[in-house]
Amino acid sequence: MMDRVQDTIEILKTYHQEHIIKLLNKLEGKAKEELIDQIGKIDFHQIMELYDNTKKEIKIKENKIENIPYLDKAKLTKEQKEQFDKLGETAIRNGEYAVVTMAGGQGTRLGHTGPKGTFKLDVYGKGKYLFEILAENLKEANRKYGVTIPWYIMTSKENHDETEAFLKKNNYFGYNAKNVIIFTQSELPLIDTRGKLLINKNNKIKEASDGNGGTYSSLRISGCLADMKEKGIKWIFIGGVDNVLLKMADVTLLGMAIQKNVQIASKSVVKANPHEKVGVFCKMNGHPKVIEYAELPEKMAEETDTNGELKYGESHIMCNLYTIEAIEKVSKEHLMYHSAFKKNSYIDENGREIIPDTPNSYKFESFIFDAFEFFDDIAILRGKREDDFAPVKNKEGVDSPKTAKELYEKYWKRH
Ligand code: UTP
Repeated sequence: MMDRVQDTIEILKTYHQEHIIKLLNKLEGKAKEELIDQIGKIDFHQIMELYDNTKKEIKIKENKIENIPYLDKAKLTKEQKEQFDKLGETAIRNGEYAVVTMAGGQGTRLGHTGPKGTFKLDVYGKGKYLFEILAENLKEANRKYGVTIPWYIMTSKENHDETEAFLKKNNYFGYNAKNVIIFTQSELPLIDTRGKLLINKNNKIKEASDGNGGTYSSLRISGCLADMKEKGIKWIFIGGVDNVLLKMADVTLLGMAIQKNVQIASKSVVKANPHEKVGVFCKMNGHPKVIEYAELPEKMAEETDTNGELKYGESHIMCNLYTIEAIEKVSKEHLMYHSAFKKNSYIDENGREIIPDTPNSYKFESFIFDAFEFFDDIAILRGKREDDFAPVKNKEGVDSPKTAKELYEKYWKRH
């Protein structure tokens, strides 16, 4: 034990984490062992490198950006739509389709206490939980296609127990429990502006989920990918937890992917205006890519094609589809990490909990769409905002519970 303590202290010294040495020296027995175990699993070199990157100016490389073709669902011919739908429906009926819900986010902007999926949207007086809305969407597909689509739900270490207990308590909203598979994503430590790792209430280093790009590797590490293979799954849909109009089993999207023989496909909605702050699809250096709002030159953001449509107008709405081979491939790739400056509570050197009012620390995340560039092609289907996209992101204003409620109720009035 003495050696382990000394080795751990050496690591912490190397990376200037003296406040954690202080904590370690205060702890005894099991708590001390647990902290040592946690420190042993952290890649300090990687974390400090990511921290150093936050201080550097990001140089935008000279990239060749081109627009990317898409099909507009509303403009498909009757024959084309029927062909896609039939292909998609057959794959689902054959049990080749699974869905993944990414529910490992912190939901900091919404400010709801508890996992985001447990947020109740005030619809139809009684309200519906976000998980309930997703379960209803899947149950409807199951009824239509005579199957039970396996539903994989990704949590974070932070929200796993609460998510699991919530779903159990609510009887998985009528979903067959056997077909709800909950798995947990990986984490990375949080670091403050001076390069010190945050300490958590439980005498550990505070960590947070490593972004929705972690979905791929977590599917593999958790054994879910192997489980899917065993079940004969060929297509995997991955979506967010917070879009109350998300269609998790869109046969047109699936059929289009099958017909086009692509490894990945995605549903988009057209940008509300050229300067809406969303990521849009493009081809970068010949590969599919979602380019962030800030990285798209203004002139390009406004550019239109011969039909008067925005050339870079297809927004990424976390509605992605993959072959199982595609997931297998990207689950072994290293995606780049982005840093997000966020508000995170922590324990200070006097043992007091500090709840900051303003952002105080960096969270490192990889993004789901950064995997697209590992492929040569992607099939994009443009949906409709009013049918496909009503996100619950912010407490108030745009993409808030208020706007999602309006869109949700309007949609169901029409259907
Ligand atoms: P967002 O990037 O909108 O993050 O996630 P968020 O956690 O919901 O909200 P903020 O930014 O803290 O306010 C988009 C989707 O990706 C999932 C979220 O749960 C959501 O479904 N996600 C995000 C994860 O599953 N894991 C992560 O590490 C991050």
